[in-house]
Amino acid sequence: MKEFIRNLPKAELHLHIEGSLEPELMFTIAKRNDALLPYNSVEEVKAAYQFSNLQSFLDIYHLGATVLQKEQDFFDMTWAYLERVAKDNVIHTEIFFVPQIHTRRGVSFDTVVNGIYRALQKGHLLLDISSKLILCFVREDSAEEAMQTLQQALEHKDKIIGVGLESAEVGNPPSKFAGVFEKALEEGLLTVAHAGEEGPAEYIWQALDLCKVSRIDHGVRCLDDEKLVQRLIEEQTPLTVCPLSNVKLKVFNTLAAHPLKKMLDMGLCVTINSDDPAYFGGYIGENFAATQAALGLTKEDLRKLTRNAFNASFVSHEERKHMLKLLDKLAFC
Ligand code: ADE
Ligand code: ZN
Repeated sequence: MKEFIRNLPKAELHLHIEGSLEPELMFTIAKRNDALLPYNSVEEVKAAYQFSNLQSFLDIYHLGATVLQKEQDFFDMTWAYLERVAKDNVIHTEIFFVPQIHTRRGVSFDTVVNGIYRALQKGHLLLDISSKLILCFVREDSAEEAMQTLQQALEHKDKIIGVGLESAEVGNPPSKFAGVFEKALEEGLLTVAHAGEEGPAEYIWQALDLCKVSRIDHGVRCLDDEKLVQRLIEEQTPLTVCPLSNVKLKVFNTLAAHPLKKMLDMGLCVTINSDDPAYFGGYIGENFAATQAALGLTKEDLRKLTRNAFNASFVSHEERKHMLKLLDKLAFC
């Protein structure tokens, strides 16, 4: 099974690039930028990664991101992620970035997007990993700030496929950003949103109806609402589920208690992703392996999860055909 999971071609659809910044690289970048961190060692950073909920994680994650200042920093972080997931046989990745946590510190939008994008191009050339970039708005910040960020993004439309919503969910419903999402859609961008992670099923309805999302990030709280589950099944709306993240942030107490297998069996379009692998104890391969072991997923379940991800990705018809063909080859293993 270990071998099967490693060989399974994968697409990752829910990955915050700032959440892939490993403590070792955080320290290296801090040193060269003379950036201050409230930790004395990598071990101290790792010891701080004990979270009681989403907010307790967000505080530390935003702090870690303050070391990122130059284009090279964003490049190095993204390249490290790509090199790591190449080992997990990731063939396609759709990466979130969150410019507001950088621009508010005086780092320009161009610096952020150009560093990340240059690494993605190198990843395509040297690692054969295709990719898309999705801009996430900070949902505790105002809709006006999100709109200003969108205006900056429009100058980089060649590099960005869509927009999403991240950060503190409860109290910041998708409805707050309906106007921003409308503008993004008018500009030809696709939309996604974190919804139903800590927030209620109602936020998933709003993301679908007001933000016209193509996918729901997390979405596990849909199980509280039977009608919503029926709709998600009927429309085959992809849910980018992040099992290790959900346990680390106490959405579920244990992986054994995670409803992923139940959701898959119900016919929901579930995918497996890592969210913030440097903070939650595992990249996508580890999320697959740990979830398989905890829930007894079969090879057919694993193929289905990866097929769902290929079908849910924002690629061309030709690219999707190519990815699905690779998966079919594995049917003989
Ligand atoms: N930003 C990074 N990870 C996140 C998560 N799991 N939920 C909301 N915002 C995030
Ligand atoms: Zn996330």
